[in-house]
Amino acid sequence: TAPRTFRIAAVPGDGIGPEVVAAGRRVLDALAAETGAFALEWTEFPWGCDHYARTGRMMDADGVRALRGFDAVYFGAVGRPDVPDHISLWGLRLAICQGLDQWANIRPVRFPPGVTGPLRRDDTAELDWVVVRENSEGEYAGLGGRNLAARGPGSEVAVQTSLFTEAGCERIIRFAFELARTRSRPKVTCVTKSNAQQYGMVLWDEVFARVAAQYPDVESDSGLVDAMAARFVLNPEELSVVVASNLHADILSDLGSALTGSLGLAASANLDPERRAPSMFEPVHGSAPDIAGRGTANPLGAIGSAALMLDHLGLAKEAARLDGAVAAATGAGVLPADLGGTATTEEVTAAVIDRL
Ligand code: NAI
Ligand code: MG
Repeated sequence: TAPRTFRIAAVPGDGIGPEVVAAGRRVLDALAAETGAFALEWTEFPWGCDHYARTGRMMDADGVRALRGFDAVYFGAVGRPDVPDHISLWGLRLAICQGLDQWANIRPVRFPPGVTGPLRRDDTAELDWVVVRENSEGEYAGLGGRNLAARGPGSEVAVQTSLFTEAGCERIIRFAFELARTRSRPKVTCVTKSNAQQYGMVLWDEVFARVAAQYPDVESDSGLVDAMAARFVLNPEELSVVVASNLHADILSDLGSALTGSLGLAASANLDPERRAPSMFEPVHGSAPDIAGRGTANPLGAIGSAALMLDHLGLAKEAARLDGAVAAATGAGVLPADLGGTATTEEVTAAVIDRL
């Protein structure tokens, strides 16, 4: 039978985004050719800070609508030092996530063989958890304003409001429990700051307690975000699925990926679990202008995100094969500079392709 063809929108973006997206595309195309199980039809969208400099917009005005027709979006990173970060982030990445209501951001924290980091100085520790981030509201709802006029120069006032809805809390928490059921340790850890933030975070806690009661087969516990940062470092073996708000999970997932050895390793998926719109797959890291253009960026975060994309497209076997090739490459000592090695982006990519 003819392989299933998936239409993928590639949005490489800025800095090292295009370097790691090119690496991920090569690996995916090699896997497609190797297995014959699927085919990919790529369309590239040249959006980002160059586009902004040319047009005053980070993406086309009807860009979100254009993406709707695809099976998935494969994203690099946005951001350039000469463009304010809130413009580049809101103009492209957040515009896509929120425009397509990709409300679940999944960020696995995994420890590949051959990589040592702050938590693991050898290959013996069994560590593996996943941060589930609420991706549509919370602290990144974009609600608020600035008022310079009211109090005069030097006394500007700004308000940034968090939005928590019962439906928004419920869908992400339920998603975390469903995900926990698929894992070897079915457990969900709830993160809030409900001692200090007595409205939104208390609503979140109450919804968590209600949903947890509906999953008696899944262990659950909870903690405050500051204490959770300490737990990530001191007791990570207790973690399986960690569910948190947009801001808290953003920070905790960067912490998690740094603990694995480098931000360059971390993969993520922005999912619309209801599959009304395409989901978006991207490395956790940003555009890394400090190393862009040198050919030394770690492509493993983008390659891991490609595996998450295959999984979402129903290609679980192929996703596992890709993850296996990455593990074989790192296990053989093919490591980029951020992991203490000397391999270039190109060499890491070739090593993964070799091991497919
Ligand atoms: P960053 O993730 O770009 O870089 C942080 C540090 O990690 C840098 O030293 C960088 O060289 C290193 N690093 C990151 N990814 C790497 C990789 N794949 N291989 C090797 N080293 C890597 O975060 P930073 O510096 O805070 O932000 C830079 C720009 O990226 C800003 O404009 C920011 O707004 C944007 N950004 C975009 C994101 C996105 O598009 N999803 C996420 C985070 C930041
Ligand atoms: Mg982040």
